[in-house]
Amino acid sequence: MRFSFFFGTFLGWATWTVAVPLEHTKRQSCANGPTARNCWGDFSIDDDVTYTWPDTGVTRSYSFDVGLATLAPDGVEKVMMVVNGQYPGPTIEANWGDSVQVEVCNNLSQNGTSIHFHGVRHLNTNHADGAVSQTECPIAPGDCHTYRFKATQHGSSWYHSHYSLQYGDGLLGAIVIHGPTTANWDIDLGPLLITDHYHESVFDLADEPLTSLIGIPPVAVNGLMNGKNAYLTGTGSRAEFTFTPGKKHLLRLVNTGSEMIFRFAVDQHHMTVVAMDFIPIQPFETDTLLIAIGQRYDVIIEADQSPDVAYWARGVPMTSCFAINLMSTDIRAIVRYESDTPVTGDPTSTSWLMLDTCADEDLSNLVPHITHSVGPSALTQNFNAVLLPSQGDNYAVRWRVGGSEPYRPPKNNPVVKQVIDTAAVNLTADFNPIDLTSLAPSSWVYLIVESLAPLPHPLHLHGHDTYVLARGTGPYVELLTSLDLESPPRRDTFNLPQSGYVVLAFQTDNPGSWLLHCHIQWHIHQGFALTLVEGSPSSIQGVYGSGEDAEMRRVCQNWGSSGLETTD
Ligand code: C2O
Repeated sequence: MRFSFFFGTFLGWATWTVAVPLEHTKRQSCANGPTARNCWGDFSIDDDVTYTWPDTGVTRSYSFDVGLATLAPDGVEKVMMVVNGQYPGPTIEANWGDSVQVEVCNNLSQNGTSIHFHGVRHLNTNHADGAVSQTECPIAPGDCHTYRFKATQHGSSWYHSHYSLQYGDGLLGAIVIHGPTTANWDIDLGPLLITDHYHESVFDLADEPLTSLIGIPPVAVNGLMNGKNAYLTGTGSRAEFTFTPGKKHLLRLVNTGSEMIFRFAVDQHHMTVVAMDFIPIQPFETDTLLIAIGQRYDVIIEADQSPDVAYWARGVPMTSCFAINLMSTDIRAIVRYESDTPVTGDPTSTSWLMLDTCADEDLSNLVPHITHSVGPSALTQNFNAVLLPSQGDNYAVRWRVGGSEPYRPPKNNPVVKQVIDTAAVNLTADFNPIDLTSLAPSSWVYLIVESLAPLPHPLHLHGHDTYVLARGTGPYVELLTSLDLESPPRRDTFNLPQSGYVVLAFQTDNPGSWLLHCHIQWHIHQGFALTLVEGSPSSIQGVYGSGEDAEMRRVCQNWGSSGLETTD
């Protein structure tokens, strides 16, 4: 059985102290319901997902066929790369504590592929992270590969290809892991995926002179909500949501964009925010919410307005941080109230005041329901992100984050394969590696990331929730910066402010190779990423066991025989 295999792997690797489901003390069972959303059977919102999760014994299985399809999300046809012929792809849905398995078959003829489950911690399942060059070779055309992991967290997220720019052409979908929440609601309306949208293939745009010469991302022609929107006059249709009068609706907001920071709001309705990424937070009220690429917010919206009119839900690109979009004021969905005589036609509601800003929400609003304190650092590293002239490729500029080279690793020799083969970290500079293998388990690592470029970067660390100890504008000055070590926000995606810095911390409790990167697709493509190798080589080998190790080698073998490109 699959589960005993995981468990066997885990036991085989006994010297590593990690989070295991220990802290949960059995309490009286309490059923989740509209007036008790904090309950979750024997578990509850007070169980810390970092250490505790149910073991349901249930496996949710999905089969993904990755291929091309001609679709028209906004009425304009585009050849897209999608899962099972649809955009967005099917939603992965599970309960907290379920196991998830996703078989991915690649039906593209000229491209490898991979699927990454964004924000999923993958505790001791680094092999399921789907990060090409880190944990796997691309899945070759005609090949299939199965990802298996446990839903130790709950909340909302998305999966996407982690092969080059593919998700910008549609290779993505939502993830919903049902669990308790920090405030009550009646109706789960599901995910609302917000994105920028290009009519051309992002692969063609990547070669445009502006993109390649001065590093400015191409201007998106439209934006979509749940894969739909209108475009100019007449084409396309908008996503619609139905509110039940008097009820509280849970909406799972996800920015799945390639370039753009959005501010989200529903006209005339307040929101109560109950989760950021996979972390439940102390509820806070707001009218508008800034969402950077890769971030998620679970919000509760009460249907307390007149049912006789319809309302716009808006995603407004933040132009002050270069989120330039030709349809800026028209990236919208429609909210209608349930009624015997439903209102048809477009809403005429007016927008909340939309502040055009670029930093994440005020950190004082983003307080985890269960806070953690952060220990002293065993290692502190500074990284400056700069755009510098490139050499030896068709780009004039590349991002460099610390390191001597931009991130531009080969696809046919993933980090974990090298670490397992050599029992050491001897990566070439194009992996932009940070070797953490000699740190004791559960050490605290602090990362200071700075960039004086005038645009914000949504940073994403795989395999961890990251503590945001400080952030600010201007250069980082140690003496002037006080770190919040008592109860800092933690999440997996956070904005490095424009011309500013963030100080991050995470704990080395998850052996494997993990990426830290800017989630602006164009920026990771131009080198804005770091490889963090965590845990001793033997603990990394332990995570791969023999089965996952053999599977990784099989996928690489097939990729090698495909004869496709090995670098971007
Ligand atoms: Cu959303 Cu490295 O990924």
